[in-house]
Amino acid sequence: MLDRLQPQSPDALLALIKLYAADDRSDKIDLGVGVYRTNDGDTPVFAAIKQAEQKLVEEQDSKSYLGPEGDLGFVHALMPYIFGKDATKGGRIEGMQTPGGTGAVRLAVAVAKQAGVHTVHMGVPSWPNHAQILNDVDIAFTPFDHANADGTANVDAVLDVIRNAQDGDAVLLHGCCHNPTGIDYSNADWEAIAEALAGSAALPILDIAYQGLGHGMDEDAYGIRKVLDAVPEALIAYSCDKNFGMYRDRVGALYVMAQTSDQLPPVLSNLNALARASWSMPPDHGAAAVRLILRDSDMTQVWLDELETMRNRMREVRDALAKAGDVGSLDLRPLGQQNGLFSVLPLSKDQIQALRGDHGIYMAGSGRINIAGLHMGNIEKFIGALEAVTG
Ligand code: LMR
Repeated sequence: MLDRLQPQSPDALLALIKLYAADDRSDKIDLGVGVYRTNDGDTPVFAAIKQAEQKLVEEQDSKSYLGPEGDLGFVHALMPYIFGKDATKGGRIEGMQTPGGTGAVRLAVAVAKQAGVHTVHMGVPSWPNHAQILNDVDIAFTPFDHANADGTANVDAVLDVIRNAQDGDAVLLHGCCHNPTGIDYSNADWEAIAEALAGSAALPILDIAYQGLGHGMDEDAYGIRKVLDAVPEALIAYSCDKNFGMYRDRVGALYVMAQTSDQLPPVLSNLNALARASWSMPPDHGAAAVRLILRDSDMTQVWLDELETMRNRMREVRDALAKAGDVGSLDLRPLGQQNGLFSVLPLSKDQIQALRGDHGIYMAGSGRINIAGLHMGNIEKFIGALEAVTG
């Protein structure tokens, strides 16, 4: 029977990791998959994580099973950072640990489907795995334009979708550091989105995978907090893969805000059943390390300082790109206004191929670049190569 299966192409973004590794040019540049890099091009384990892991080795006395909800100490310790002061909204928010942000998005979409959602509206371009997950869960997806041609967010498009939503519709929004464009809604946009959602039939699914990598932990949560203040219910998918550098440890959480605290248990029971059938329970180690950090004020400060260093470094790279201004046929100025790890350059397939073949510069086929792959030692080369392929 297995011979009936048609071969599938590898995930294009993950395939880039191998292509880059196989290139033996010493001045190659990796702008592919979204991992943070230092000025030396490394992706080190956070110092706060090292401290927490050390403590875990010394103190952890069992690796016995937890439930499908994973480490609830981790889930709860994150909540004030995501939701602010009234972190449970009077007992209306609860969560569970998931294998990375991908697990959280998958669970969100699957439970939304069980609740009767048949269509998810999503701004495009988006993280390619969003569409793959929706496809796999077998739920329809209707795209709308995320951005305007001038590099600003197209708030009218999302407002239109929200205002016209019917029962059975959900809208998926990126909380901050939009992947792939880096183009976020402004605070005023979020206020309008929250107001529109308050009177809409659409269920909000909020994906926040880069908190702290845009303008700060609170600043990056402005949008989702505004929405949660306005709407009766929502699903919130969260990833610690980037802001704790836990990529391969798969550290995420899914939160649900219900209309009343009484309505939480049935939703959670559905989430538990879905998780049990998918992965039974999430991997423990990374979430346990994050819990230890967040319960210790010294370690928390070490982590917040590391996050600030990352954020500032990416801002420096963005400023340098924006300063370069017109490069070949490109205008790099808008990159200075964008946030987080990613921006998209309007490059053709041939130009992307030439950057790879002639210059050893690897980026996604969409023209998405990982800003953190650039540093003061390679940015000149990158700008020169852009000039050469687009000039
Ligand atoms: C990315 O977009 O590069 C990251 O979110 C990694 C991934 O899983 O795609």
